[in-house]
Amino acid sequence: MKAVVAVAGNGLTRLIEVDSPVPDDDEVLIDVSAISVNRGELHRLRGAQPGWRPGWDFAGTVAASRCHDRTSFIPGQRVFGIAGGGGAWAEQVVVPADHLAPLPADLDDEIATALPVAGLTAQRVLRLAGKLPGRHLLVTGAAGGVGRFAVQLAAEAGAEVTAVVRDEARAAGLTELGSHRVVTDLRLLTRDYDVVLESVGGASMESALDLVAREGLVVSFGNSARIPATLPVARFYPKQAVLRGYYLLDDIVTHPPARDLATLAHLAARGSLRVDIDMVLGIEALPQVLCALSDRLIAGKAVLRMR
Ligand SMILES: NC(=O)c1ccc[n+]([C@@H]2O[C@H](COP(=O)([O-])OP(=O)(O)OC[C@H]3O[C@@H](n4cnc5c(N)ncnc54)[C@H](OP(=O)(O)O)[C@@H]3O)[C@@H](O)[C@H]2O)c1
Repeated sequence: MKAVVAVAGNGLTRLIEVDSPVPDDDEVLIDVSAISVNRGELHRLRGAQPGWRPGWDFAGTVAASRCHDRTSFIPGQRVFGIAGGGGAWAEQVVVPADHLAPLPADLDDEIATALPVAGLTAQRVLRLAGKLPGRHLLVTGAAGGVGRFAVQLAAEAGAEVTAVVRDEARAAGLTELGSHRVVTDLRLLTRDYDVVLESVGGASMESALDLVAREGLVVSFGNSARIPATLPVARFYPKQAVLRGYYLLDDIVTHPPARDLATLAHLAARGSLRVDIDMVLGIEALPQVLCALSDRLIAGKAVLRMR
């Protein structure tokens, strides 16, 4: 089968022939039809060993299942899910059965494949915040994959959401997703936020600690800018606020995502969760897509078809 591999730690990839993976007990082999690209994979590829197999998000059909409960997945069934160890940018992938969910009949595989990493991260960082109705929530990187889901899920749960985006062009659609306010400059914000979802890093992370309310919560889950932050602790600690890190790929090991994936698929299928897909191309276009992601030319998600 064909699979994407890292070339030499410089972010470059190649599509080559490799052996098909073989499922172990409680694992499922999937014929992959579509994958999506996350900023995290771009970061990983830059430091990857040659031969490393990227790819977390996939949709496709079950080729074989070695689940004890043989009724849980059957060959030919449409599914989508997350390969926490990578390797999903391939014609076939093997994952534990609890990292998969069935695809509703009315949900396209190109839409479903955009859900796992970005949707689960949004869902789970919001869960850390506890009750949301009436609380003020700040989302940085709001025009990105995770950001667009976080804005929607938070607004749907009753939070007052402020979205932070790069410029007016990137603000497009954020109000429709549920943002009560969309800003391009964090320094103009004057109110405190009960919860800050921070994934940009650098000055954005510094502002997050400044803007969090007394006894509020900052969840740091990314550093898209790849810039270290100088943390203004003197203003932060008197507020007795909490700074919390989050890492999905560890979390799904201890808390398998099958049920959350099913919820995301259900919301997307009934139109309650909008999936903004900027481009759908063939897997051969992966190098161009990675360049576009690096140059911040993608608004929402990029999806690639495997077959
Ligand atoms: N900890 C975890 O488990 C976890 C899980 C998923 C993602 N992440 C991290 O969370 C972040 C968001 O992921 P994603 O997949 O949603 O990424 P994405 O789709 O590329 O979105 C990134 C967003 O951040 C904004 N941004 C602001 N400054 C940026 C800069 N200097 N460089 C790049 N982007 C910048 C982008 O703005 P524009 O729209 O204007 O380009 C974009 O809206 C990434 O850093 C990712 O690695 C972490």
